[in-house]
Amino acid sequence: MTTIPPSTAGDCSLFSTVSPCARARRHGHEGGVLWFTGLSGSGKSTLAIGLEQALFAEGFKVFVLDGDNLRHGLNGDLGFSDRDRQENIRRVTEVAAAFVDTGMVVITAFISPFRADRDRASQILGAKFHEIFVDANLEVCEARDPKGLYKKARAGIIPDFTGISSPYERPESPALSLDTGCMSIDVCVADLRDYAMRAFLRA
Ligand code: ADX
Repeated sequence: MTTIPPSTAGDCSLFSTVSPCARARRHGHEGGVLWFTGLSGSGKSTLAIGLEQALFAEGFKVFVLDGDNLRHGLNGDLGFSDRDRQENIRRVTEVAAAFVDTGMVVITAFISPFRADRDRASQILGAKFHEIFVDANLEVCEARDPKGLYKKARAGIIPDFTGISSPYERPESPALSLDTGCMSIDVCVADLRDYAMRAFLRA
């Protein structure tokens, strides 16, 4: 059993006298996390970047967290065992929560394969957590194989590969589900933009 340190997310009132309400007034929108989950190659990063552009153009304070900016630095000590993935997602949750405390919209793009880790993020972030299922099935992702990783996983060169030799637990009731196997990137980004406008824009 891994002991997970307690979260201090949401305790910003202990450290700051600027209220969440004042921040939201200044930004013109609420903060929150659009938590993308899905297999490698499902389109999480592509959609995250497209959505960031769309929301930035609307004046949102928005930022993407994904493996490219966290697994090389903060999470550079972690691999892909179940335990390391749990720790990866724990740290992502804490970083995302800190951004949310600043009033920003954060888009996280991680496989985040385990329901328990996503549920923990949901508990910590409360109503500010929005689970988005980037739902391309294994067949589609493996056919895309943009980094050639599925081929290496099938050949046994990469161990513990999600969908091949490590499990992926589908979300049970995501706020939004996008089948990138049959929807275009533009349509998915438009759906995400509409969802974010409804979720974060102040009335
Ligand atoms: S997570 O499972 O801990 O959430 P994360 O999203 O940070 O994973 O990283 C996934 C990316 O790392 C994949 O898109 C892929 O490019 C790369 N990767 C390298 N090894 C693995 C592996 N064993 N399983 C899944 N992805 C891997």
